[in-house]
Amino acid sequence: MTDLDLAGKRVLVREDLNCPIKNGQVANDARLRAALPTLQELLAKQACIIVVSHLGRPKEGVFDEAFSLKPVAERLGVLLGVEVPLVRDWQHGIQVDQGHLVLLENIRFNPGEQSDDENLGRTLAGLCDVFVMDAFATAHRAQASTHAVARFAPMACAGPLLVREVEALERIVLAPQRPVAAVTGGAKLSSKLGLIERLLEQVDLLIPGGGIANTFLGALGHPLGQSLTEPAFYDQARALHARYGDRMLLPEDVVVTPVGDSAVTVRLIDEVHDDERIMDIGFHSQTRFAASLKGMRTIVWNGPMGAFEDEAFATGTKAMAQAIVSSGAFSVVGGGETIEAVERFGLAEQFSYLSTAGGAFLEFLEGRTLPGVAVLEERAAS
Ligand code: 3PG
Repeated sequence: MTDLDLAGKRVLVREDLNCPIKNGQVANDARLRAALPTLQELLAKQACIIVVSHLGRPKEGVFDEAFSLKPVAERLGVLLGVEVPLVRDWQHGIQVDQGHLVLLENIRFNPGEQSDDENLGRTLAGLCDVFVMDAFATAHRAQASTHAVARFAPMACAGPLLVREVEALERIVLAPQRPVAAVTGGAKLSSKLGLIERLLEQVDLLIPGGGIANTFLGALGHPLGQSLTEPAFYDQARALHARYGDRMLLPEDVVVTPVGDSAVTVRLIDEVHDDERIMDIGFHSQTRFAASLKGMRTIVWNGPMGAFEDEAFATGTKAMAQAIVSSGAFSVVGGGETIEAVERFGLAEQFSYLSTAGGAFLEFLEGRTLPGVAVLEERAAS
């Protein structure tokens, strides 16, 4: 996009403006702020700009106020300092003046978006001279506004945010400076199994956290009480640990709380009581993990260590964030929850790169092809 003369051109730009909405307002505008440089550049280039995004997962074919991009249009207008009209009826064409910008209503209201419908792709393509794919966070979805439209638009190119994201992640995946560490927390091993397998093949150190660490601990026979765990994945966890245990660090002590009680206790990993639930990693684990991250030159982080939303259980996640930034390694963080955590701790600025993506970030690291990126490469090659 940066290379093109777009003055007076109709530019359809796909952004991922999917952000949490609470009480009719944008609760976290990180994704909007990430898209700003692209939109500002298009305004400066005097393009006629049509922005398209989804919000949540509404039912196709039905307008539902709860999934309207109205709060996003308002917030985006404030951030950009221009009015951002929200357009609901655009299917038969739309007029945008040069140097102005409009936002289409949630694209997922349109039948065919999620099935990557060719007709919807052609309709979107018909709105523009140039399609800009800038929504890295949705690039793992082959949908009409991320994929089909790129096939049919007169010209399709990558936007600056997408380029920044791909370059930062390629730096970890293709030729990372070693040693490399991955910190992968979160609730379920099942949702990150492919990623963890791949990371274990490639990294020098892997530190699982949260429910994922619990599943490894449970598989190795440690008592977990009422903690979040996935016994159905114990065989796989055991096999991974048997093969790669020398490059994995598991917690030795944990913060627990009895179910239905607010008491907080720290226990060694073999002493968790039947009625207790693991909520965070303990102090010894934090110190050991931090020490092992010290010599790393590349660190990738996705997923918290514990239930950080509650101040009482945020210490482990905060300690990891601090250890990563003070290691001096090239550090990349991805995933909504993890970004929320580092922002809350006031450490966001200190990471080398914060990805706007969750699912796309994980799929990219796993080595999967992202359809929204692949289609641009296909167009460029043809
Ligand atoms: C995300 O939040 O990961 C992206 O916006 C994609 O949303 P989806 O999982 O609903 O496709």
